[in-house]
Amino acid sequence: MSTFRVDGARALVTGASRGIGRAVAQALAEAGADVALSARTGDALKETATLVQEQGRTAVLVPGDLADTAQAVHVVDRAARTLGGLDIVVHNAGILPMEADGSPVVLPLQESFQRDWDSVLHVNLGATAAVCRAAYPYLVESPRASLVLMSSVAGVVGAPRMEAYAASKAAQISLVRSLATGWAHHGVRVNALCPGWTRTDMTAFAYGSGPLSDWLMGHVPLGRWAEVADVAAATLYLASPASAYLTGHALVLDGGMSVPDGGLAGTPKPPSPFAAPVPSPSRAADPLPVPEPTP
Ligand SMILES: NC(=O)c1ccc[n+]([C@@H]2O[C@H](COP(=O)([O-])OP(=O)(O)OC[C@H]3O[C@@H](n4cnc5c(N)ncnc54)[C@H](OP(=O)(O)O)[C@@H]3O)[C@@H](O)[C@H]2O)c1
Repeated sequence: MSTFRVDGARALVTGASRGIGRAVAQALAEAGADVALSARTGDALKETATLVQEQGRTAVLVPGDLADTAQAVHVVDRAARTLGGLDIVVHNAGILPMEADGSPVVLPLQESFQRDWDSVLHVNLGATAAVCRAAYPYLVESPRASLVLMSSVAGVVGAPRMEAYAASKAAQISLVRSLATGWAHHGVRVNALCPGWTRTDMTAFAYGSGPLSDWLMGHVPLGRWAEVADVAAATLYLASPASAYLTGHALVLDGGMSVPDGGLAGTPKPPSPFAAPVPSPSRAADPLPVPEPTP
């Protein structure tokens, strides 16, 4: 089991203020890493830092909004400078498109707006490119470099009503394949983890709703939500020497959901809450450019 240890490794975890990122930071610390923690919410990062320190490891706070490329570069540079380099980068920060009231936009593409698409692609893909680019010079200096992108099973099988999210996660998998081959001669491993439905703030709208949760879990042969500890354990595998010969891989961790017709596992499927047409909530349309009057 020692190959799962990352003693003395210098790690950066983005999206570490809650949910999966917090659990990943805690797992890496438990396995021996010092961890730089990034997100926008400083107070929540301090709570994660306490969990890291309780494992006897160093926690460094590098707050920033990764949607801003300059901040993303600053976050990576500060993490590397403070820890003295980077061996592990888990880029986990990500979003669903949100309404102004904080509820997720769950609408087919044809009913959604371009701003929904742009916001998700900007954070989930644009920030990924910025973090990877900024991390490259540090990772190539490490004798045990591992970059893990937190993708999603949605990036593998698609997600009707969450097309932008699924496309952003599929693009992360493509980037992993490209970087893995491009960076292999430096000894840098690059992999994606593709979790299925995991209980976090991001999915509270679904697991908090009985019929929707029942329907979703009806498509998961293992019949339950993933917990953040499930995702953290798989991330540790990708970050540690236990996966030393693995690169360019997208590891699907979804309770069997993506197996073609997971129903063959015998899981009874409740009726879809989406079976009837769902009226669009009233939303302010994107402002359309007003054409100049022609003389
Ligand atoms: N939950 C699931 O079912 C599931 C399934 C598959 C994949 N995933 C992926 O796993 C990752 C973590 O998801 P989660 O469920 O743990 O979500 P979450 O609870 O909503 O946490 C998202 C994290 O990302 C950070 N973040 C969001 N936007 C940011 C920005 N612009 N700059 C910096 N940090 C930002 C958030 O911190 P602040 O708000 O403090 O900035 C938070 O720490 C995401 O990439 C998600 O797509 C989740």
